[in-house]
Amino acid sequence: MFVLGLQGSPRLKGNTSILLSTFLNEAERLGAYTRQIDVASMDIVPCQECGICERDGYCPINDDMQQIYPLLRSADLIVMATPIFFYGATAQMKALIDRSQAMWVRRYVHRLTDPGRKWRKGLLLSLGATKGKRLFDGLNLMAKYFFDAVGAHFEDSLTYRQIEKSGEIRQHPKALIEAREKARDLVMPYLHKVRVFFVCSRDPCPCQMASAFTQFYAGDRVETECIADVSGGINPLMSEVMRERGIDMGYRESRSIDEAVHYRPPDLVISMGHRKDRPIFPWIESREWPVPDSMNRSIEAMCQMRDKIEERVRVFINSLERSKGSVIEDRD
Ligand SMILES: Cc1cc2nc3c(=O)[nH]c(=O)nc-3n(C[C@H](O)[C@H](O)[C@H](O)COP(=O)(O)O)c2cc1C
Repeated sequence: MFVLGLQGSPRLKGNTSILLSTFLNEAERLGAYTRQIDVASMDIVPCQECGICERDGYCPINDDMQQIYPLLRSADLIVMATPIFFYGATAQMKALIDRSQAMWVRRYVHRLTDPGRKWRKGLLLSLGATKGKRLFDGLNLMAKYFFDAVGAHFEDSLTYRQIEKSGEIRQHPKALIEAREKARDLVMPYLHKVRVFFVCSRDPCPCQMASAFTQFYAGDRVETECIADVSGGINPLMSEVMRERGIDMGYRESRSIDEAVHYRPPDLVISMGHRKDRPIFPWIESREWPVPDSMNRSIEAMCQMRDKIEERVRVFINSLERSKGSVIEDRD
């Protein structure tokens, strides 16, 4: 499980950061892989309303937001943490939120479904100096629409009043305890997932498709990694044939094997294509899903491959169901 924490305060060791890192440390202790981004340290310019994302589905501004889009896509849980500045989020966090318009467009203008959308959750952490009754009203609405844009279900918010001086959150009678409890509530249900590595030969397309279909159909039970040459990127023809199925391959990134194992080793390895250097993990159950190895497929060949892989994924998921998630007993 990957938990992404977005820390919106410019006071990098202030109250928001303490609250968020308490949450993330507990999530990590339970077995999640976590990452905290200090949004104020990133170079993220506000949306320029150029309209290019509406046309192309991508934001053309070349700044640090380009690193955040794939993180939002690969997260299972997104934690947005910000102090209240004038009844809303900080300007730094608001710039990030506005730039998520590129993801909103993919969903609502281009009608594409991110395969992780059904399973991803969002949590809001916030605090402010005053005790106003409606202190968090605006921010809660903003969070609701941000999480919808990035494909996450807005699960809950933890908000604290009368927190002003740096570090004051530590004196709050409940805040840090509640952050740890919330981490347990949100992380535990994810930890039972079967972790599957799809490992490619030269061509990353089959693994990218298999990983996306598996997440789309069974992301609540299976956690997938697409292991490929990370510099490979996404083949536009493959994106096109997945788009015909309504599946959004945008911002999906493959990982290197070292990175994926560092996070958590697999329960099952599925090799696609014809690798000569197998087995990668001799001690872990592995399968082969042979696919013709070609870097230059026609659109028809790409469609055929997509259909075969989708069928294979469905059979695989059914067999996991029969064996109640045990990959050892499964034979597809
Ligand atoms: C520019 C600015 C605007 C603020 N606006 C509000 C506000 O509208 N309501 C409020 O209760 N606190 C407001 N605050 C106070 C902060 O929310 C509070 O000090 C908080 O604890 C800061 O958290 P941090 O340590 O994570 O930065 C504001 C602070 C600043 C610097």
